[in-house]
Amino acid sequence: MNNFNFCVPTDIRFGKDQIECLPEELAKYGKKVLLVYGGGSIKKTGLYDKVYTLLKDFEIFELSGIEPNPKLSSVEAGTEICKKEGIDVILAVGGGSCIDASKHIACSAYYDGKPWDLVMDRSKVKKALPIAVVLTICATGSEMNSGAVISNEETHEKLEINSPLLYPAVSICDPTYLYTLPAKQTAAGTADIISHVFEQYFQPNDGAFITDRLSEGVLKTCFEYGPVAMKEPENYEARSNLMWASTVGLNHLLTVGKGGAWSVHPIEHELSAFYDITHGEGLAILTPAWMRYVLCDDTVDRFAMYAKNVWNITETDKYKAANAGIDATEEFFKKMGLPTKLSQVGIPSEKFEEMAKEAVRTSGVSNRSYYPLQVEDIVKIFEMCNE
Ligand code: NZQ
Ligand code: ZN
Repeated sequence: MNNFNFCVPTDIRFGKDQIECLPEELAKYGKKVLLVYGGGSIKKTGLYDKVYTLLKDFEIFELSGIEPNPKLSSVEAGTEICKKEGIDVILAVGGGSCIDASKHIACSAYYDGKPWDLVMDRSKVKKALPIAVVLTICATGSEMNSGAVISNEETHEKLEINSPLLYPAVSICDPTYLYTLPAKQTAAGTADIISHVFEQYFQPNDGAFITDRLSEGVLKTCFEYGPVAMKEPENYEARSNLMWASTVGLNHLLTVGKGGAWSVHPIEHELSAFYDITHGEGLAILTPAWMRYVLCDDTVDRFAMYAKNVWNITETDKYKAANAGIDATEEFFKKMGLPTKLSQVGIPSEKFEEMAKEAVRTSGVSNRSYYPLQVEDIVKIFEMCNE
């Protein structure tokens, strides 16, 4: 097992009615709150009113309309409010998009230049406002990690900013807030959790046995409860297991003792940067194709292990077992109603090469990933998703 540091300072408040702690938690930082939310789901669900009732003694400023795949222009608008009003704490009520925008705003508030500079050069992140989260969709793990993914609409870049200063101080995770999620978002969120685990699981492993077993547990949770949540949106057991799976899936726990750059995410980020598609849907399309493309003598043992431990596949021929595990994964995505082809999300082939080049330029996929992929490999994977 490799050496590692594990320090995740976010205070998780999990379960029904945990939102009641919000006034006490926010008061630790001051009275001026920037409330960051999306396109209005929180108004329909009543969460918006609940927040205002709880925070009646606070001064609330609003940044609404955060887009799925949050845009730099929203971050710039939020940064301006923080600087002008002297905001004490940011409250993100929503999913990965609101949390990510809040993280970028939190550090831009203390930076004199343009917010995008901080994405280009993380060493410029020196200080950040505290962030509190009320989570309404489980997918990204952003509620307990230090990353944020922001889209620059002018350059078509979708890139990550990451700093230990960007962990939320407190995240309220109440599974009942997931009851109103549309099926498409439940499915896409589940695919995202699964993909996060895959990115960490399909890596060389120098004896981090425990990390692999924890990962398999999170995968089994998604495969077990994803379909239940689709069929019964108000099933608390399903929603709560998926909610915790999303947090554990990307709070560094599943990467400790291992390492390596990710593969499918950098490729998907190009799809959502160029075509603004739903992140989890892009991952569901790409993942089975990526698995089939990288299956070889160097990787087959790990894919066969996945098939055996997660899908209970008893086949003894390792290639047959590996392929059966990949088939099961693809079937699962189909069963969840997720798209399987790029054409289903309106992506033509004309930018395959440009997106592949960007994925290679902006990530470690070509040299530090489990199975290094060059531009021509990524184009072939795109083509497999088009057949
Ligand atoms: O905008 P509103 O009206 O709130 O509607 C949202 C949005 O349309 C809706 N929604 C959320 N909670 C709801 C709800 N609708 C009804 N009831 C509820 N309870 O769902 C839609 C999607 O929300 P969004 O926040 O975009 O979803 P998600 O959490 O999947 O975040 C996606 C973004 O996070 C990035 C993705 O690339 C994408 O930009 N990621 C962030 C990561 C991180 N910070 O660690 C890692 C991930 O790999 C990912 O890249
Ligand atoms: Zn993701």
